[in-house]
Amino acid sequence: MKTIFEPFRIKMTESLKVTTAAERQYKLKAAHNNVFLLDAEDCMIDLLTDSGTGAMSDRQWAAMMMGDESYAGSRSWKRFETTIGEITGMPYIFPTHQGRAAERLLALTRVSAGDIIPNNSHFDTTRANMEFAKAAALDLPCVEAQRLHSDFPFKGNIDLARLEEYIGNEHERIPFAMITVTNNTGGGQPVSMQNIRETKEILKRHHIPLVIDACRFAENAYFIKTREEGYADKSLTEIASEMFSYADAATMSLKKDGLVNIGGFFVCRDEQWAEDFRNALILQEGFPTYGGLAGRDLEAISVGLREALQLEYQQYRHATIEYMSRKLVDLQIPIVRPSGGHAVFLNASDFVRHIPAVQLPGIAVVNALYREGGVRSVELGTLMFGRTGQVAAQELVRLAFPRRVYTQSHFDYLIEVIEEVWKQRHKLKGFRIVKQAPFLRHFSAWLEEL
Ligand code: F0G
Repeated sequence: MKTIFEPFRIKMTESLKVTTAAERQYKLKAAHNNVFLLDAEDCMIDLLTDSGTGAMSDRQWAAMMMGDESYAGSRSWKRFETTIGEITGMPYIFPTHQGRAAERLLALTRVSAGDIIPNNSHFDTTRANMEFAKAAALDLPCVEAQRLHSDFPFKGNIDLARLEEYIGNEHERIPFAMITVTNNTGGGQPVSMQNIRETKEILKRHHIPLVIDACRFAENAYFIKTREEGYADKSLTEIASEMFSYADAATMSLKKDGLVNIGGFFVCRDEQWAEDFRNALILQEGFPTYGGLAGRDLEAISVGLREALQLEYQQYRHATIEYMSRKLVDLQIPIVRPSGGHAVFLNASDFVRHIPAVQLPGIAVVNALYREGGVRSVELGTLMFGRTGQVAAQELVRLAFPRRVYTQSHFDYLIEVIEEVWKQRHKLKGFRIVKQAPFLRHFSAWLEEL
């Protein structure tokens, strides 16, 4: 069948405000041409992030009613511990309020000034937490990751040769290495089981622990099942368990593949790591059996993690992304191929070739998508990564897909909007920054159309 079959039906609806082009023109101007400054209700399709924006199932909502809000040792904690223990095989399990809280406490307990933390690519918050602990966050993406047009199936892999080289020179300074699945910074690209296994073998020889950033582990498991030899007949849970079997610890933002709106965890095998993390958690987040979350959150997470590992759900999620990618490729609209697990990336440099990087081509596309159809996307280019006077390596626009939120007709609408903007691309103009903050300027900058 060609039609995407969403493996759920809708029991409760949330109204979307339908706006006119004139209204959107006005709203964008009032937001200083920066979509981060728009009110969410003025966005008809909001693709800013896939983090914490998913829809929960009836089973999750039902589980929330069973939340045990006891301070210590609640029933909900027991269920959370059992579920995560079964999936990850780790003996020590800690809830945190979101992913970066787990990263912060990991950095606090295990990282010292002058350390080096290698990763396929650090996500912004992971990098920031390592750097805050005065360590160097080292990105070692595989060479295929930089080739926008390469069809390599596992562009999220870490570069094993460079990892080995760094360890050879600096192994005293590496308290642990990380692998992020899928590689968000690299476009949500998957990491192969072979790459995780070989990373572990290298690290083991040097007694360096491996920490997995597991935000999108279930999407990664689906890629392994469908793309890597030997995994076609394994369940997603079996594949996920094998991924975690190579790790000594993991952090996770449950706002992604936990299918909830808030939550995170840290898990590990080592007793001393657990002891240190527990003490830091009590000091900064909460008692170790709730870690900054409510009992009802723990219940929703226990159900959500299992749902994310259901094959029908992942088939539908990936079909949506493939559907979008195929349609855009057919229209000859430049996108990054192959698409990752949670987003489609437009290549803004090719989309608006007449706008140079200093004039923010990604912003030209982002703002045109909003004006044309009320679609909110995000620029990953010179506004986000460039420093004053410098441009970014790539000019991309991310369309991140919230989980179980939009239907195929929303995606058809989205394709229509992109196609319309593509037709008018020659008329689009660049932007300049008129006001910016010293750090993370993309969140609050004021922009002016040239
Ligand atoms: N690691 C990865 C790979 C992430 O993508 C994120 C969040 C985090 C850690 C931090 O988790 O937000 O729960 O504290 N990514 C979101 C995004 C914000 O839009 O990609 P958090």
